[in-house]
Amino acid sequence: MEQKETNIAEPKGKLGVLLPGLGAVSTTFIAGVEAIRKGISEPFGSVTQMGTIRLGKRTENRVPKIKDFVPLAELDDLVFTGWDIYTENCYEAAVNAGVLDKTLLDQVKPELEVIRPLEAVFDQKYVKKLAGKNVKTADSKWGLMEQVREDIQQFKREHNLDRMVMVWCGSTEVFMDPNDPAYNDLAAFEKAMKEDHPAIAPSMIYAYAAIAEGIPYANGAPNLSVDFPAMIEFAKKQGVPIGGKDFKTGQTLMKTILAPGLKARYLGLSGWFSTNILGNRDGEVLDDPESFKTKEVSKLGVLKYILQPEVYPELYGNIYHKVRINYYPPRGDNKEGWDNIDIFGWLGYHMQIKIDFLCRDSILAAPIVLDLVLFLDLAARCDMKGIQEWLSFYFKSPLTAENVYPEHDIFIQLMKLKNTLRYLKGEELITHLGLEYYD
Ligand SMILES: NC(=O)c1ccc[n+]([C@@H]2O[C@H](COP(=O)([O-])OP(=O)(O)OC[C@H]3O[C@@H](n4cnc5c(N)ncnc54)[C@H](O)[C@@H]3O)[C@@H](O)[C@H]2O)c1
Repeated sequence: MEQKETNIAEPKGKLGVLLPGLGAVSTTFIAGVEAIRKGISEPFGSVTQMGTIRLGKRTENRVPKIKDFVPLAELDDLVFTGWDIYTENCYEAAVNAGVLDKTLLDQVKPELEVIRPLEAVFDQKYVKKLAGKNVKTADSKWGLMEQVREDIQQFKREHNLDRMVMVWCGSTEVFMDPNDPAYNDLAAFEKAMKEDHPAIAPSMIYAYAAIAEGIPYANGAPNLSVDFPAMIEFAKKQGVPIGGKDFKTGQTLMKTILAPGLKARYLGLSGWFSTNILGNRDGEVLDDPESFKTKEVSKLGVLKYILQPEVYPELYGNIYHKVRINYYPPRGDNKEGWDNIDIFGWLGYHMQIKIDFLCRDSILAAPIVLDLVLFLDLAARCDMKGIQEWLSFYFKSPLTAENVYPEHDIFIQLMKLKNTLRYLKGEELITHLGLEYYD
């Protein structure tokens, strides 16, 4: 089938990056981009910067870099701002996060120091473990949302920005009932904001403000944020691309790499026990059972969708899947994640796999933020609106259209991402059929 090239607006001018939450992930991302711009570091882990894409037949040897294939914003055109409940500037927050060493941070200190957190929309009801003073006040949640819009407009004016993208890098909020009537449609949601309804969490206020300003939004945490009909309706109405939820890093990244392999060989699974120790602020927030519940739901869904127990009851109908997160301060951001996987093969014989991942969460998350910023900006310039399922690759709980289950297999997700780029450029989609080589 001939595919017509999409009309993609050129990425001219500056691209503003709006980050609610200036913690470990945000500061590692910003410091990293500054270091890469200065030629001190390499963008390892980033598909937009390192990735290539095969075009046409294997005999054609056409394998450009993704960033040369589709028009993406340049790293030099990114300008950052953020909100946080603490007043430390981005340099101080990065030092406190303890992810990057001081020698590296000192080389980008001038660029980081000028990024000072704007006053946050925050309420301890939604993140029990934190308290800070750098917080907005208003008569209602609607009033808070209007203040965020003013922050955004001022940032745009100050830096003469052409376009913007927002990525939620704030703490995980408590679990909220996704079926609350306030989420049913846009009118109900706006009314609830004006009435200060408890169903409206801070992350939703930022998201609404971004979408109202026509700015793409991605949610890096597992809280609802834009994952309900009212916000999806709003994004479509405003012509804004959205994505989420929860950056796919660490243990879940490993799970979505391994589980498709076990399934591909029809090896059965009786149990998967995952436990983590981590000592950063995220770990502290997740020590609260209500925030952990939000995370747990996000982490548990992965295996069910990859292994399809309803299709393979003999192999996957009786899995014991447990995920634990333990706050352990000595480790800081350097998490340790253990997985014990009980599998069975031919004639039901049992085997075990043990994984001990000495991982650095924010090092895995930072390139995801970069890719989401650049791809969401691309989506906006292609006039794509609403849920961007092709960005599922980056999330633990990908948003999908109603009545479609999420695709968690990382290899299918990558194929979907690259085929979307081929589609946008009018290139033939790759099916891996390959019969033509043997005619
Ligand atoms: N690090 C990872 O690999 C990873 C992976 C998946 C998801 N996440 C999620 O990304 C988010 C950020 O992770 P992190 O490690 O940077 O955590 P962090 O605790 O270091 O940073 C979060 C920051 O958000 C701020 N914050 C909280 N509520 C806010 C609000 N309403 N407005 C503005 N700021 C607010 C906090 O003060 C904190 O500085 C968390 O929700 C985490 O669960 C992280």
